[in-house]
Amino acid sequence: MKLIRNFCIIAHIDHGKSTLADRLIQACGGVTQRDFHDQMLDSMDIERERGITIKSNTVTLEYTAKDGNLYQLNLIDTPGHVDFSHEVRRSLMACEGALMVVDASQGVEAQTVANLFLAMEYDLELLPVINKIDLPAANVDRVREEIDADLGLDPFAAIPVSAKTGQGIEDVLEGIVHHLPPPTGDESAPVKALVFDAFFDKYRGVILQVRVMEGTLKPRDTIHFMHSDRDFTIDELGYNQFKLNPKKKLSAGEVGYIVAGVKSVQDIEIGDTITILDRPADAPIPGYQPAKQVVFSSVYPMSTDEYQDLTKALEKLAINDAALTYEKDSSAALGFGFRCGFLGLLHLDVIQERLQREFDIGLVISAPSVKYQLMLKNGETLEVDNPSYWPDPSTIDSASEPYIRAQILTPEEYVGPVMELCREHRSESQTMNYLSAGRVEVVSEMPLGEVLFDFYGKLKMITRGYGSFDYEPVEYRKTDIVKVDILVNKEPIDALAYLVHRDKSRARALHYCEQLAEEIPRHQFKIPIQGAIGGTIIARATIAPYRKDVTAKLYGGDVTRKKKLLEKQKKGKAKMKQFGSVNIPQKAFVSVLRAD
Ligand code: GTP
Repeated sequence: MKLIRNFCIIAHIDHGKSTLADRLIQACGGVTQRDFHDQMLDSMDIERERGITIKSNTVTLEYTAKDGNLYQLNLIDTPGHVDFSHEVRRSLMACEGALMVVDASQGVEAQTVANLFLAMEYDLELLPVINKIDLPAANVDRVREEIDADLGLDPFAAIPVSAKTGQGIEDVLEGIVHHLPPPTGDESAPVKALVFDAFFDKYRGVILQVRVMEGTLKPRDTIHFMHSDRDFTIDELGYNQFKLNPKKKLSAGEVGYIVAGVKSVQDIEIGDTITILDRPADAPIPGYQPAKQVVFSSVYPMSTDEYQDLTKALEKLAINDAALTYEKDSSAALGFGFRCGFLGLLHLDVIQERLQREFDIGLVISAPSVKYQLMLKNGETLEVDNPSYWPDPSTIDSASEPYIRAQILTPEEYVGPVMELCREHRSESQTMNYLSAGRVEVVSEMPLGEVLFDFYGKLKMITRGYGSFDYEPVEYRKTDIVKVDILVNKEPIDALAYLVHRDKSRARALHYCEQLAEEIPRHQFKIPIQGAIGGTIIARATIAPYRKDVTAKLYGGDVTRKKKLLEKQKKGKAKMKQFGSVNIPQKAFVSVLRAD
């Protein structure tokens, strides 16, 4: 056990975590040169394209250190985005130490600090790594100062490297061996193993990623999941070495995989503790929290005959993504679809993109919403994330919405606009801390619902790309939420209804009305488009009447052409939805909801 090191790499997005992981893998000969492709650990297409790590992967490496010993290094890759902080937590629990990567030209950023706090919560030993020293803009001395002042870590322990050129990689490996502690645990104690990740393999079923804390696991042991209370028998276990490398046992301190006939990741819970049925541990590993969906949205196929495809695609995605929830939903406007729960906006984006790209399904996605808590006048409580289920306002005593503590790091000169942006997004309190080198940390408590709509994009814009943002949930607070209906020719269109703070209701309603007015073709009569709270109209736009005769520009004569055109017009109509007497093209929904 003395020769094992379990560690992860934590960093702000883009600071080079995956590239560093690649170099460490190469340096340890974890994969042959021929098999090597950049970003070994980022396996999903979207991850590769966007250059962000979504799902974490783990690998066992062997390193012969300068002291002559052969060490087993378990590198546990962690996702870099706030949406996946519960996954980061799971990964941190499996480690004794972490490399904290800071970009030599960018310096410490919001996620670096947020990740540092997380790592400290789990008592990890931290080794700072200053990456990208090959860049002309690299300023190692300034970053050392920030590591000291902003992170409170030893600036002289920091290892300067270039993950790109490979410079300093051996120093990192020596640092891991000498600065990070080995695991502890008793190989003969009753088994406690943390399931920190799981993925689905077509042929093998679910592959569990575990860190054994106590005891020893062997093939054919019957394992018991302590939180979900389910039992499975181990078919195979071993190390992750880019392929599954079977072993005879996994003992305290080790990290590896288990195949045990689990059919879907939805059958288990990531973060659960495994023990052995015959000789169970008395208590699970502390700190378990189930993944929590905070953003909800309805997903409809663009055309109704794609509903079956959508059903199958969601089933497939959920097999591999325990954090995705979905249940049947239906809309008068868009037909059958699903109400989905996501960990955050990026998670929603990822799922949406995978549905469209991997499964080739055109989608209409309703405006994302948070979950509101309602206190009704009859004393009942209710949780609502779907405008369709919003009760009659006269029955509501009070409503609350989830708040976050947002942490924004920005260069000093943009503090004014950043504070203004927070206020526009209903921030309730703002505090400022001056950090080193002209940078300021703005901490602001605001509703989660407010950052769902392009907050990050605006922040990046007003800080010229230098601002960074992270958040943690705090609590539910009282709020004044209303349901806004969008009416086309006096008919409410259910898929466009949304829940919003009263102060913001009018601006958004106006935006929806104007967008619809642009997208809905003229009819033979005037069409009013209105936004309304209950019976009160708060916004409106009008489509003037117009008789569209596609054959008008043909002077008599050519009958076949005329027929063809009329045929074409009929086809165009097929993609429209009839609402009362108004036809709304499907793409109107897409553009209204997307432009939001
Ligand atoms: P996430 O997965 O999104 O968290 O990003 P990451 O931290 O894994 O960053 P990644 O390894 O994808 O690197 C981000 C970018 O920086 C890529 O374009 C890399 O090629 C580049 N990069 C990484 N390390 C170095 C380095 O040492 N020098 C230079 N010049 N570029 C680097």
